[in-house]
Amino acid sequence: MKQFEQSDALKRLPEQFFAKLAGKVNRYKEAGHDIINLGQGNPDQPTPEHIIHSLQSAAEKPAFHKYPPFRGEPFLKQAVADFYKREFDVTVDPEKEVAVLFGGKAGLVEVSQCLLNKGDKALMPDPGYPDYWSGVAMAEAEMHPMALLEENDFLPDYNAISEEDFEKAKLMFLNYPNNPTGAQATESFFEDTIKLANQHDFCVVHDFAYGAIGFDGNRPISFLEVEGAKDVGIEIYTMSKTFNMAGWRVGFAIGNPSVIESINLLQDHLYVSLFSGIQEAAAEALLGSQKCVEELAQTYERRRSVLIEGLRGIGWDVKAPAGSFFSWLKVPDSFTSEEFADYLLEEAKVVVAPGNGFGEYGEGYVRAGLNTPEDRLVEAVNRIKQLDLF
Ligand SMILES: Cc1ncc(COP(=O)(O)O)c(C=O)c1O
Repeated sequence: MKQFEQSDALKRLPEQFFAKLAGKVNRYKEAGHDIINLGQGNPDQPTPEHIIHSLQSAAEKPAFHKYPPFRGEPFLKQAVADFYKREFDVTVDPEKEVAVLFGGKAGLVEVSQCLLNKGDKALMPDPGYPDYWSGVAMAEAEMHPMALLEENDFLPDYNAISEEDFEKAKLMFLNYPNNPTGAQATESFFEDTIKLANQHDFCVVHDFAYGAIGFDGNRPISFLEVEGAKDVGIEIYTMSKTFNMAGWRVGFAIGNPSVIESINLLQDHLYVSLFSGIQEAAAEALLGSQKCVEELAQTYERRRSVLIEGLRGIGWDVKAPAGSFFSWLKVPDSFTSEEFADYLLEEAKVVVAPGNGFGEYGEGYVRAGLNTPEDRLVEAVNRIKQLDLF
């Protein structure tokens, strides 16, 4: 069989760190171990029924069996605009300021291809969601890490970035509520970001994947709520987490019209839009009852409390996340992140994601997800307790 060589762009792609972790976990499962997997970020609950029913009836509409409009169904873009108005009091033009995406991940990779040239710089949260790196690598651009440190509440310290690096930057990625640290942003932080973006002409891409998951009464802030945000950037919203629709692959880019136009232009060449039945069900999710979203956030908050209080109860000094469905846990001094994750897997059959997979500044931490029922979180704590580490 001929082996065709991959293009240079593909060769530049970073290693999929978490594919390696999944392989390791599968080997333990195949060996018959009862694994508690806190390593993943995959919502564990089903999509609410009214959304499923909407797709079922939409599937029967012959009009939806044809190609959908290239840039998405106008009714869905209007639903996104209505959702942003209702949830965040943000006004957007559905045609010029909303792009329909095949999930947030697609948009996060596409935006680098839209805005970056060879040698350009992208400011990147570290630790951060690894998919940001992929688009930057394919564009032959360079990453400039912004350390997210516990002492700064996991917000980047802009004073630590030189004027020169800001000048070279074309893009900045941000993500709050944050994966992996569970931190939330503040309005004043976004104000500082907008000021810098204006001063240095870079585009801000705020990944709002966990926009519905805030704890202790702290509602997550949309970047677009802050004055001037639309002048300098976009927000990426996904149906995956808010509505347990990760398998449906629906997301949106919202904000600066020139960036939305670029994303739409690229997508005109890559795809025709999503199946219109999925678009109709997504509109139903955005416009229908939001009781399921409230319940979802409460479920994650209860799980968060079970895990954090449990771990504190066995002597592990851990910080409670303010949002997202992740806990960012400092590992004992004698371990690296990877050693500790391996140790928990081998000795307790508990999977956590090693922090170094999210970047250099993730070293010293592991990420535990809350996509597991409360009784299994209790069991995970009990298993870790047996190891007598704390
Ligand atoms: C921070 C962050 N951004 C984006 C995504 C992508 O979500 P999706 O592609 O399902 O919309 C995820 C998924 O895990 C995520 O954690």
